[in-house]
Amino acid sequence: MIQPPPAKPLVEVLSGIRQPVPPLWMMRQAGRYLPEYREVRARAGGFLDLCFTPELAAEVTLQPIRRFNFDAAIIFSDILVIPYALRRSVRFEIGEGPRLDPLDTPDKVGTLSSSGDFAKLEPVFEALRRVRRELDPNIALIGFCGAPWTVATYMVAGQGTPDQAPARMMAYRHPEAFAKIIDTIVETSITYLLGQLKAGADVLQIFDTWAGVLPPREFRRWSVEPTKRIVEGVRAKVPDAKIIGFPRGAGALLPGYVEATGVDAVGIDWTAEPSLIRDKVQNSVAVQGNLDPLALIAGGDALDRAIDDVLANYAQGRLIFNLGHGIRPETPIAHIEQMVKRVRAYRG
Ligand code: CP3
Repeated sequence: MIQPPPAKPLVEVLSGIRQPVPPLWMMRQAGRYLPEYREVRARAGGFLDLCFTPELAAEVTLQPIRRFNFDAAIIFSDILVIPYALRRSVRFEIGEGPRLDPLDTPDKVGTLSSSGDFAKLEPVFEALRRVRRELDPNIALIGFCGAPWTVATYMVAGQGTPDQAPARMMAYRHPEAFAKIIDTIVETSITYLLGQLKAGADVLQIFDTWAGVLPPREFRRWSVEPTKRIVEGVRAKVPDAKIIGFPRGAGALLPGYVEATGVDAVGIDWTAEPSLIRDKVQNSVAVQGNLDPLALIAGGDALDRAIDDVLANYAQGRLIFNLGHGIRPETPIAHIEQMVKRVRAYRG
């Protein structure tokens, strides 16, 4: 008799089936808080060399799974591989974050490639195939991309900015040129996400880290609409594709985001209001989050209380336990062990 494939708790939650013990992973779980990551990172040379060397990218993807036995591995890459595939210059300077050539005038936008060079992204697909071969079948493999708005904030400014002012200004002053950037990212991201599914990803996440700086009208136009087109574009080819959206800081705009985009789950940050989330978000999709990464650094009783709040607020419904944003490099490993133990001891 042919055995059915083993159930992955994270995929079950996304398919509508609450798990008594919520599945658990951490955003940015492969990274500098791990000594074994720092060792591989030092060997790789540049950050993009690490992303584009399948053997090393697969290795750092698996490191947090070996240590903590999370329910999901997220492929090691970056949201800025999309501008790189669009032939923009992308560099990562140590201690300074990303540097790109600013795309901040309509003239410059006129020179933007209309489609990506996917040969450049082939190493990411190869890393996914390697991880899938080595990963326990109960553990989900997550592929990802940045949401067009967040990727555009880096492409326009050429670097990270405190308030994303360059992209916000361009969207007001030159909406047609800005829409061309967004549309190009939408099309490239659809192909990229489909490639990740084909290479073995079980689930996709769309990171909209800077969604929270937009007024409601701009949020609908530049965050919700493009995300919806990505979800539709992926599902046109893979109808049951499981997709998590993370419009960080969206707050009271979350219910509208969920309804319009059609995502299966939504990431919530630690400022989320529990009754709004339960009544207007978790009633239709799963939620993922939302431990404050600073509570994870603090540890002790403060951490236990923060974990228990997340569980008390959301574990009666469909929950994927996670942080409200990425783990920080200074986080002690013992505190992550404390978190895993406490979440796994939950019986709801
Ligand atoms: O979650 C994971 O473990 C997978 C890997 C991953 C990275 N970046 C690796 C990375 C993911 C999912 C991302 C997403 C990403 N990249 C986002 C959205 C999610 C979020 O956390 O807000 C954004 C905005 C970026 C862009 C980016 N990449 C910035 C601003 C920086 C520099 C800031 C920093 O933390 O240094 C990066 C670099 C980066 N991407 C690192 C890692 C592990 C650190 C670089 C290093 O190790 O030298």
